[in-house]
Amino acid sequence: MNGVAAGHSAIYPGSFDPLTCGHLDVIERAAQIFDQVLVAVVVNPQKRKPLFTLEERKAMIRDSVAHLPNVQVDHFRGLLADFVRHREAAVIVKGLRVVSDFESEMSTALMNRSLSNVDTVFLPSDPKWSFVSSTLVKEVYNLGADVADYVPSAVLHVMQAKRRAPRPAER
Ligand code: PNS
Repeated sequence: MNGVAAGHSAIYPGSFDPLTCGHLDVIERAAQIFDQVLVAVVVNPQKRKPLFTLEERKAMIRDSVAHLPNVQVDHFRGLLADFVRHREAAVIVKGLRVVSDFESEMSTALMNRSLSNVDTVFLPSDPKWSFVSSTLVKEVYNLGADVADYVPSAVLHVMQAKRRAPRPAER
């Protein structure tokens, strides 16, 4: 590869519950900058119980990045800083959708650098995707909306199949 950061590998961490078009855009752009990009799926997202299992989340990402030969998918549990050191990554990549993202991401980046000596590179989200988050996609999906405009087709197929699957009776 002729990455700008030749010889450098980047880790793009997240919950990816599920991967959105905004995530995929960041991965595609990171894959042009770095020689290798490892998409790192956190096993247990902090916010809430994930809608998709770890294996579903990883499979949806693998299918969505199949056109990118220098992108791999793995998972981690515990501290991102430990995983980054273990995989000897040069940088962490994060996407910034809106200005408020920067406030939390800045302190996270500084903590990760303090723990691992690895810096975080921020990629601004394409404005086309600035309103698209996994949380909002799940919310509108759960309320019956079509999410085809917001997630890659591999993700959409899984979401549509999940919607068709019988659910446990709700009280
Ligand atoms: O997609 P998300 O939910 O915004 O991703 C958040 C993630 C997984 C990148 C973050 O929660 C994380 O790094 N979790 C691992 C635990 C950790 O290292 N916490 C300390 C961060 S300074």
